[in-house]
Amino acid sequence: MSLQAESCSSLEELKALCGSQHDYLLSHWDSLDAMQRLGLGAQIRQIDFDGIRRELSSQEKSCDWSQLAHKAEPPEAVRLADRTDSLIQQAGHEGAQAIASGQVAMVLVAGGQGTRLGFDQPKGMFAIGPVSGRTLFQMHADSLRGAMKRYGVAIPFLVMTGPSTDQPTREYFAQNSNLGLDPKDLLIFEQGTMPAIDATTGRILMDSPSSIALSPDGHGGIVRALAKTGWLEEARQRGIRHLFYAQVDNPLVRACDPVLIGLHRLAGSQATTQVVEKRFATEKVGNVVKLDGKTQIIEYSDLPEEIAKQSNPDGSLKLWAGNIAVHVFDVDFLERCCQSVDAIPFHRARKAVAYVDEFGIAQAPKEPNAIKLERFVFDLLPAADKALVVEALAAEAFAPVKNAIGSPTDTPETCKAALVGLHRQWLKNAGSYVDEACSVEIHPMWAWDQHEVQAKIGKPVRIESDTYFT
Ligand code: UTP
Repeated sequence: MSLQAESCSSLEELKALCGSQHDYLLSHWDSLDAMQRLGLGAQIRQIDFDGIRRELSSQEKSCDWSQLAHKAEPPEAVRLADRTDSLIQQAGHEGAQAIASGQVAMVLVAGGQGTRLGFDQPKGMFAIGPVSGRTLFQMHADSLRGAMKRYGVAIPFLVMTGPSTDQPTREYFAQNSNLGLDPKDLLIFEQGTMPAIDATTGRILMDSPSSIALSPDGHGGIVRALAKTGWLEEARQRGIRHLFYAQVDNPLVRACDPVLIGLHRLAGSQATTQVVEKRFATEKVGNVVKLDGKTQIIEYSDLPEEIAKQSNPDGSLKLWAGNIAVHVFDVDFLERCCQSVDAIPFHRARKAVAYVDEFGIAQAPKEPNAIKLERFVFDLLPAADKALVVEALAAEAFAPVKNAIGSPTDTPETCKAALVGLHRQWLKNAGSYVDEACSVEIHPMWAWDQHEVQAKIGKPVRIESDTYFT
């Protein structure tokens, strides 16, 4: 077929996909060159027009969380106070067995745009090691290698990227010997995208005459993206039963935490989430609650202040459980979710999105003009027949890098301080002296936890300068 004939037939196909409602996406077709046509065609083919139509027409039916929140109760949870030595031992043993027998894999989601951090590469490439300068990706890979060493087993590592992070992430892994991981147990896969939609007209926005304004479809896009890879089927065949989920911006997470996995198994949970006690009522974390008999998360922006501030007789917060986005999912459960991806709701965010108007003129609004649609991974929790909530200490599990250096919260500085704080505590518990002015960092292959630090240190040491235990 000639190039011209091919282009005509593809135009007919694209027109059919867009339908009359979105045919404006092709209005600059005649002025595009062959490459641009190819690119625009590929974007149009991957748009879920039906999903968008459904979503826009369900606008008025969308969930009124501020009303529902009145019914929210604290979740049933394994709280810190419930974590007796014998429970920790039992759960640790159960989790360790599952890991050692190859039943666990880990997924790291790293598809976000990281706009708040203001770093021009994938967030995973941001240097965060307080002494070593290791990147976020390297910290996670090392933590997983620490688990592999401890349990003498290969643990598959899945990394979800997005359109802007995929290529540089692949190059970064390739150029750095896959961060010490065996390539046959490494799967980098790309999540899907959703177009930005004009908040007034409902039209899909274009960021140039040949390209649609697309952004990643949220961390909940993991379900659709995983389904595409076929990995869940492979996991089933390999006997992998649990997927440990973490986000690239939190290097304090312990890869494949055996106690969390053990508690998940002992409870017969399909979806387990680790939480921390909120520091104050209006803290900007999702609230894990029990609502209509289900474990659910209400975003901080949807929780009315008077409800957030409700307290128990002892003054503690009634809705205390803050989401830190560390989960364990059963592979069976994820397979079931994959069959009903459309049941996972979209969340809408109003954002200022640059676009070209119908005359091809670039517009850069300062105020939010567009709706972005994203799925959130925590919306899987209410779909589980059995979900479990487990409390952790923030100082041991949660130090996200969200905002740029110098911002008030969740910055590279606060994250580094948390990493140093935890490792300093491990060394002190092992009887060592650590000068408060010094930074310390422990590589997980040197010691993966407090227990291993104790064993490694042997005789107490004095640490009076920045030290990297590697
Ligand atoms: P955030 O919600 O903090 O978003 O993502 P972000 O993109 O990293 O940062 P901002 O909001 O633009 O500043 C939490 C985690 O979920 C991943 C991110 O990579 C991060 O690990 N994520 C987010 C995805 O993998 N895909 C997405 O579509 C969104």
